[in-house]
Amino acid sequence: MVYVEAQNLPSHIGIIMDGNGRWAQLRGRERVEGHREGSKAVRRIVRAARRLGIRALTLYAFSEQNWARPDLEVDALMQLLREFLLSERDDILDNGIRLNAIGNLGRLPAVVRTVLDPLRSDSAGQEAMTLTLALSYGGREEIANAARELAREVAAGTRSADDVTEEALHARMPSLSVGDPDLVIRTGGERRISNFLLYGLAYAELHFSDALWPDFAEADLYEAIASFQGRERRFGLVGKAAVPVLGEGEGAATSERAPRSEESATVLRLVG
Ligand code: IPE
Ligand code: IPE
Ligand code: MG
Repeated sequence: MVYVEAQNLPSHIGIIMDGNGRWAQLRGRERVEGHREGSKAVRRIVRAARRLGIRALTLYAFSEQNWARPDLEVDALMQLLREFLLSERDDILDNGIRLNAIGNLGRLPAVVRTVLDPLRSDSAGQEAMTLTLALSYGGREEIANAARELAREVAAGTRSADDVTEEALHARMPSLSVGDPDLVIRTGGERRISNFLLYGLAYAELHFSDALWPDFAEADLYEAIASFQGRERRFGLVGKAAVPVLGEGEGAATSERAPRSEESATVLRLVG
C-alpha cells in the first residue's frame, strides 16, 4: 500500500523513460520490442497521472542525441510514436488533456508531424493536464536557443545586455511554460540526467527507480510521489527544524514543508 497526500502533489512531473532496450535484451528480444512495451507504460502512467490530478507531465521520449542510434531503431521509434498518438487521440481529447511537444520538432518525420500537429492544435484549449512529449529534445539545445533569442534582441537594440536575466532565459524555455518540474523520475537504474530539462532542474526533487520503463507500474509512480511528499524543499532557505538564530521575523525564513500525512485531511490510498 502506498499513501499519497492529495494536497501536496507535485504540480509538474518529468520522467526520463529509460530501459526499453534492456527490457527486450533480457528476454532475448529485439530492442524495438522493448520500445513497443514501453509505449504501453506511457499509456498507463499518463492515465494514472491524470487520475491523480497532476497538472503537468513531461515525458522524455526521444533526445536530440538519440538520432545517432541505428536507423532501424530510430524509424521504429518514430512509427511507434505515430501509433501512440493515433491510438491515444480520443482518450486525450475526452479527458481534458492538452498534448504539447517540445524539442527540435522540425527534425521529426512527416509520419509523426501529420498526427502530432493536429492533436496539438485540437487539444490546445484543454486544461485538466498538460502532457508534454520531449521529442528530439536536449536541455543544452534549449538553453542555447533561449540565449540565441536574447542575443538577437540585444543585437537589434530592443534589449540591453544587462537585461539578459535569469527570468528572461526562463521565459524562453518551452519546457518551463508549465512551470519548473517539481519531481523528476528516471527509470532504468541509471543515476543521470542525460540532457533533460537542465535549466528547470535547479530545485527539482529527483527520484531514481531501478524498474525498466516497460515494467514501471502505477505503484512505482505513487511511490515516487510519496517519496517527494516526504521531503523538505528548502530552495536555499533554512529548514523548518532549524533554530532561528536571529529570532522571529529576522532571518527566520523557512521554506514550505510538505504536510505530514497525519496533518492532511485527505490521503489517497493507492494500492499498487
Ligand atoms: C529509452 O530506452 C527510450 C529511448 C531512449 C528512446 P532505451 O532505448 O534507452 O533503453 P536502454 O537504456 O538501452 O535499456
Ligand atoms: C535518455 O535516455 C533519453 C530518453 C529517455 C529519451 P538515454 O538512454 O538516451 O540516455 P543515456 O545514453 O543512457 O545517457
Ligand atoms: Mg537508455
